Amino acid sequence: MEMNDYIKLVDDKLDEYIQVEYPQDLFKSMKYTVTLPGKRLRPVMCLETCKMLGGEFEDAIPTACAIEMLHAQTLIYDDLPCMDNDDYRRGKPSNHKVFGEAMAVLAGDSLLTFAPQIIAKYSENLSPSTKLRVLNEFFNSGGARGVIAGQVVDIESENNPDIKNKEEVLDYIHLHKTSDLFQLSMRTGAIIAGADDEKLNAVTEFAQNFGISFQIADDILDEISTFEQMGKTIGKDKKENKLTYVSLYGLESAKCKLSCKLTHCRDIMDKQSFSSKIFNDIIEQIQKRVGI
Ligand code: IPE
Ligand code: IPE
Ligand code: MG
Ligand code: MG
Ligand code: MG
Repeated sequence: MEMNDYIKLVDDKLDEYIQVEYPQDLFKSMKYTVTLPGKRLRPVMCLETCKMLGGEFEDAIPTACAIEMLHAQTLIYDDLPCMDNDDYRRGKPSNHKVFGEAMAVLAGDSLLTFAPQIIAKYSENLSPSTKLRVLNEFFNSGGARGVIAGQVVDIESENNPDIKNKEEVLDYIHLHKTSDLFQLSMRTGAIIAGADDEKLNAVTEFAQNFGISFQIADDILDEISTFEQMGKTIGKDKKENKLTYVSLYGLESAKCKLSCKLTHCRDIMDKQSFSSKIFNDIIEQIQKRVGI
């Protein structure tokens, strides 16, 4: 499977899984952000990990789609006025700009509970114990010890000159607000493939590194990219005084650190001999966009 084949598959399934029913505005709001064109990196990485480790990627489709729904929920909330206050997402007005804040919150809550039900309902080929493991991963990454923890510390660090150990706090933020969903994608793909603990640890290490790299790239692109390329407002991190790799280390140093981390990602792949053209292409794309 090529990257675009996976994306098409995921897009079709997402459209099928979320049917607009009563109350229509709620389901429209849920469907809106999920089906806007995103890069679909998390579901693709879930499916590809499953295939790369000897599983049938078809078995991971409900999980991959559920992770994209969870990701969309984090984006809807991240854009709310009480969070990053962003008016655009995926090239279009943010969810709360179209449906209002109340509906955006309710759509986010609905996605968070709808997504694991997709895993439970449609993963016919998974044993009950595998399903339970996958759901446990979902709740870990989506919950108070996962992406939410990262978002909390991100918000607390905004406009906050009193933080002492900024380097550590920043890595905590990136590890949780961003790496946790990549970790979820790759670990569930591996679990569905029946991977042993050694492989599971290897994909976890890769995903953690990759997630931090991905967020450093996002921080850099917030500084140097354009609305057309990113589909969201640029320059927001500086405006809101966010703690990012760019604000802490400067642009050039952030690029160097990113370059090292991406090399480390490739080393993990080589060392653990899980080779994937798709993962290599994703890393290359990041390097190209950032210009390193
Ligand atoms: C945006 O993620 C949130 C971050 C972790 C920076 P993506 O850049 O993967 O967003 P989409 O899914 O392509 O819209
Ligand atoms: C957010 O990071 C990560 C999420 C959990 C959504 P950012 O706040 O930097 O993401 P963007 O730049 O708005 O996509
Ligand atoms: Mg944010
Ligand atoms: Mg944001
Ligand atoms: Mg950002």
